[in-house]
Amino acid sequence: MNQAQQKQDAAEAAADYVATHLEPGAILGVGTGSTVNFFIDALAPLKEQLGGAVASSEATRQRLAALDIPIVDLNDVGRLAIYVDGADEIDPGFAMIKGGGGALTREKIIAAASDVFVCIADAGKRVDQLGRFPLPVEVIPMARRLVAGQLAALGGEPVLREGFVTDNGHCILDVAGLVIHKPRALEIIINQITGVVCSGLFALRGADVLLLGTEDGVITCLPFGALP
Ligand code: 5RP
Repeated sequence: MNQAQQKQDAAEAAADYVATHLEPGAILGVGTGSTVNFFIDALAPLKEQLGGAVASSEATRQRLAALDIPIVDLNDVGRLAIYVDGADEIDPGFAMIKGGGGALTREKIIAAASDVFVCIADAGKRVDQLGRFPLPVEVIPMARRLVAGQLAALGGEPVLREGFVTDNGHCILDVAGLVIHKPRALEIIINQITGVVCSGLFALRGADVLLLGTEDGVITCLPFGALP
């Protein structure tokens, strides 16, 4: 089964999860990316059940709006029961690298405001240790060089994502070569670099449930292999 089919299967499983677990009329958090695009498509039959959605990017906002799902400002909701999003890598404890699509800051905000983070991914995203995928770091443009120097001092090789501006008006450094033994500790260190808006390490607030599309269908996983 190819990667796109695995993404679609995981996305459809997430729509089932939402149908079962989200109170009628509640607001759903929706992430960004190709897997989430499948998820948004799968939400169509559920849209009467949803009170609306908080979108993690302009791209997601437009796709939800095309389905006539009301877009809600996070500030008008406070907390969300469920947030569904993809990942670039996810480890056994459900720490993740995110931000391949550049929406990491809004994604991290919605994750922080959500009770349950449901990660949807194809089998290739599941790794034993994070770091093969270059870590995206959103940076205030005037601090790009300053931050790149600090990330290099941590052992990374930061590369500016050329021609890309985030929805928040910032740039992204993609940092290859980081050895991520302790994702929570590294997230704290990178958060403290002046000029960093947000890193794509989602370890302090990782996922709670992983719906993993595999060759053999979708597997529901909990952190560290706990049984669902
Ligand atoms: C966007 C993200 C995405 O969740 C991540 O890049 C995975 O994308 P895809 O579902 O296209 O593989 O973090 O900022």
